[in-house]
Amino acid sequence: MIMRKTYLIFITMLAIGFACTHEPFGTLDLEMTQLIGDLEQYRLPDSDDFANIPQSPVNPLTASKINLGKMLFFEPGFGVEAMHPQNLKTFSCGSCHIPSAGFRPGRLQGIADGGLGFGLNGESRMMSSDYVASEIDAQGARPLSVLNVAFVSNTMWNGSFGSGGVNVGTEARWGVADPGTAINHQQLGALEGQNIEGLKVHRLLYTPELVEANGYKPFFDAAFPDVPVEERYTRKTASFAISAYLRSLLTTEAPFQRWLKGDREAMSDDQKRGAIVFFGKAGCNRCHNEPNLGSVVFQALGVEDLFENGGLKTSLADLRNLGRGGFTGNPEDLYKFRVPQLYNLGDSGPYFHGSSKETLEEVIEYFNNGVPENPRVPASQISPFFHPLGLTAEEKKDLVAFIRDGLRDPNLQRYVPEQIMSGLCFPNNDYVSKAQMGCN
Ligand code: HEC
Ligand code: HEC
Repeated sequence: MIMRKTYLIFITMLAIGFACTHEPFGTLDLEMTQLIGDLEQYRLPDSDDFANIPQSPVNPLTASKINLGKMLFFEPGFGVEAMHPQNLKTFSCGSCHIPSAGFRPGRLQGIADGGLGFGLNGESRMMSSDYVASEIDAQGARPLSVLNVAFVSNTMWNGSFGSGGVNVGTEARWGVADPGTAINHQQLGALEGQNIEGLKVHRLLYTPELVEANGYKPFFDAAFPDVPVEERYTRKTASFAISAYLRSLLTTEAPFQRWLKGDREAMSDDQKRGAIVFFGKAGCNRCHNEPNLGSVVFQALGVEDLFENGGLKTSLADLRNLGRGGFTGNPEDLYKFRVPQLYNLGDSGPYFHGSSKETLEEVIEYFNNGVPENPRVPASQISPFFHPLGLTAEEKKDLVAFIRDGLRDPNLQRYVPEQIMSGLCFPNNDYVSKAQMGCN
């Protein structure tokens, strides 16, 4: 009680303080501040604030690495391991992580090699008739956004990459269910390790000849002057550059971020009311509580899997359906998935790891009802925080406004390169995408 009083006095002083600087600090701002507590906890660093962005000690952030990674992420010129010659050099990381779609694809599943088409946000990409489903590059889960991924100590829906964080103690499992995770033993950093494997999985090859032919030699030289020349033009350095770029993808221009920095007018009243529901009655922050509004914690909500919702190259037997348990082999981890970040989600549905919800409204309804939809997930695994919330229609609407608009950075275009060095159409370079994107 005493604590609470002191707190209220503190808040009032804060309000007076803001009033003096002519910042409007209304009752909604007060309530938000009180519910959130430490505002610093949710503030994202600026993209060039290298001292405050989490990074790997073996891959310190530099502007030249980020500059190189920004082009490589979208560069189809390294796509030389395509399954069929028609698709050579037609895809990139950006085929599945599309900036205008919140760095996810605008459809239920990402397809890189073996896909054709783009549309506006990747929503019209389909399997090429030259391929059969088993040959395409597609995974059995909805792609995660790479926004704010610097704050993810263990990447993927099952947290399998990264040697620190929640993976301390799982060493015996590295390389077992997924051979790629053996890279954790090299202690490079979650992103640095994952992306070396990612370049292989996504059929992107780096050799000195290709780096030279695509016009990147001077950029690798500038980014990695200390790496011996024999080791300078490889998947490892490419991964380090791409990882540095990914760590710079921070949604600092979202209204909520601007509000946290003191601009009380950055958010509309319905977004503020939505934030109050998020941090208050709905208790979304019991799980979504790190700076990216996700967390490296695994919880089961009992949602459907991708094979049930139109995913290709996946099935009931897909190890990805088991979540964290598929990686650790521990029964208590079965069907539990990492709590994802929440910025720019309104830019593309569908939602959840199995793409079972088309809209944010449906997601909120799912949380509000608190009834698992996947009968394969035993009740004993479902999170105790997943239960009926009793939200009113107004509260649900406000919650959607907070997530769709309050957490939307409207300027992700700053993370897209003006050009890539090969001169190819990007992020996709197949003939259908080229026509749809207006590339010549
Ligand atoms: C074919 C589509 C596709 C392509 C191409 C692709 N990704 Fe992904 N990406 C995914 C999917 C699907 C996931 C989630 C997989 C999972 O967790 O099971 C993912 C997850 C990630 C994550 C983890 C994010 C997190 O929060 O844990 C990172 C980082 C990432 N991708 C980077 C890249 C990079 C770098 C490239 C290019 C080398 C790339 N991706 C190419 C589909 C793709
Ligand atoms: C029990 C922990 C928990 C709580 C409480 C929780 N979430 Fe989540 N949230 C998750 C997990 C875990 C996922 C991913 C589930 C999956 O796909 O298997 C998720 C997914 C989401 C997604 C979809 C993200 C995507 O990339 O598809 C949204 C949106 C979301 N949550 C918003 C909310 C809101 C709003 C609330 C409050 C009403 C909330 N969450 C409460 C754990 C939680």
